[in-house]
Amino acid sequence: MNYTLLTSTSPVDIESDCIIVSIFEDNKLSTAAQKIDDASNNIISKFLNLSDFSGECGQFHMLYPETGMKCSRILLIGCGKENKFSQETVCSVMKTASKEVTKTSSTSVTVFLLDTLSERIICEQAMRQAILTYADTLYEFNKYKSDKKESHLEHVCIAFTTEPPCDVETILEQGKGIAKGMHLSRDLANQPSNVCTPTFIAETAESLGRQYDRITVEVLEESDMEALGMGSFLSVSKGSEEAGKMVVLQYKGSDESSRPIALVGKGVTFDTGGISLKPGASMDEMKFDMCGAASVMGTINACAEMELPINVVAVLAAAENMPSSKASKPGDIVTSMSGKTIEILNTDAEGRLVLCDALTYVGRYNPEVVIDTATLTGACIVALGHQICAVLSNDDGLAKEIMDAGKEINDAAWQLPMSEAYRKQLKSAFADIGNIGGRSAGTITAACFLSEFTKDYTWAHIDIAGTAWTGKDATGRPVPLLSQYLINKSLHIKNS
Ligand code: BES
Ligand code: MN
Ligand code: ZN
Repeated sequence: MNYTLLTSTSPVDIESDCIIVSIFEDNKLSTAAQKIDDASNNIISKFLNLSDFSGECGQFHMLYPETGMKCSRILLIGCGKENKFSQETVCSVMKTASKEVTKTSSTSVTVFLLDTLSERIICEQAMRQAILTYADTLYEFNKYKSDKKESHLEHVCIAFTTEPPCDVETILEQGKGIAKGMHLSRDLANQPSNVCTPTFIAETAESLGRQYDRITVEVLEESDMEALGMGSFLSVSKGSEEAGKMVVLQYKGSDESSRPIALVGKGVTFDTGGISLKPGASMDEMKFDMCGAASVMGTINACAEMELPINVVAVLAAAENMPSSKASKPGDIVTSMSGKTIEILNTDAEGRLVLCDALTYVGRYNPEVVIDTATLTGACIVALGHQICAVLSNDDGLAKEIMDAGKEINDAAWQLPMSEAYRKQLKSAFADIGNIGGRSAGTITAACFLSEFTKDYTWAHIDIAGTAWTGKDATGRPVPLLSQYLINKSLHIKNS
């Protein structure tokens, strides 16, 4: 897909298969709609006079102009009340617009829906949102379908009748970069686990390293991890024929002296539960248990596309959780890289076992902050459903920055508490810590476990168990949230 921009233009002059304009409640025409109406013998107002269309959000209607226009279709989109039109409405309005246009055979579309936004911040948010929504509507994972139905749409132009109130070129590049990162993340996550193994994740990272000068990749093999003392990670990967991999990607957008932001992702390419075997229903969805790693890799891709002036280091903890005669058993005790001993009371709580060694390892990069993301607990879905990610942190300021970034880009996260009272649930009779904390507050006790390994730095954990996929499709979340956080960080560095 090709995205472009046009400013200070009139819809009347545009040769496009479809032009999309907004109609507000009470049938108020936007500037673009008014220009079309004036040129086309009042095609829009004649239609609105029939009173079939109120302009509320969700409404749409296609018109086919006969005179005065160079385009073949005009799609009217209801945008609700004009003074309430902002980033949230943009998302739903763009979804309607992109869905309707892909039903036609249009190959090019020109979108005037952002034309009416007069505030800089809102224009920026809406612009990123517009591109992400288009990319989302057009995304399809059909690698294994013989009959591939692909959309005709090739070119989306975001157009304005005036000079927009924000730096649209930069924002367009950001939107495209984030969309590309989400695409990579979704493609990786949607692959079945017989294709997307830890080795496949490592190879995908290596190919990213070849595509961008600013990205370097290093893969730690099981033998390397043994030498580093990563007994916790290896206790998961040893049950599988597939070799575990710890993949380190570095994005270098600033000079050596600038401390990196670290991202860590859970990359369990299939989670059977191990000896604490999961029930069979919906177990296929456990191929998505590597979505943390996929979103971290997608975010690195987005950073490189946006050329952000920051350093980022990413660690992907990739392993398969299988039951076998070599697999860990409940009650086994292992020693993590930090030196802490862990009693594995449930082999299905494997995410924290692979993550804790990755979190210890990433400390050697002297990161300014560390953010890990993982499909860590089923309890997270109970708490927040499929709409909102959970954030837990040893620093409320960082948690707030993450929530703010999520809000800005419509990839919401909400903070859950962590305190000593919960930590007690992780006591082990035999080792320093147990890997489960009982039935209650599962998302919190999982984060408490991780926090034992993150004491040396500012850290946040994002549980994406409910948001990383819906139905049978990966969402690419939280690539937008992480990318927005890094954009905000890079602006902060620039201004300080
Ligand atoms: N990958 C799962 C968490 C999960 C479950 C994510 C369902 C999305 C949907 C994780 O490894 C797991 O199995 N967690 C256990 C922890 C428990 C054994 C303490 C869980 O949530 O049941
Ligand atoms: Mn599990
Ligand atoms: Zn898991």
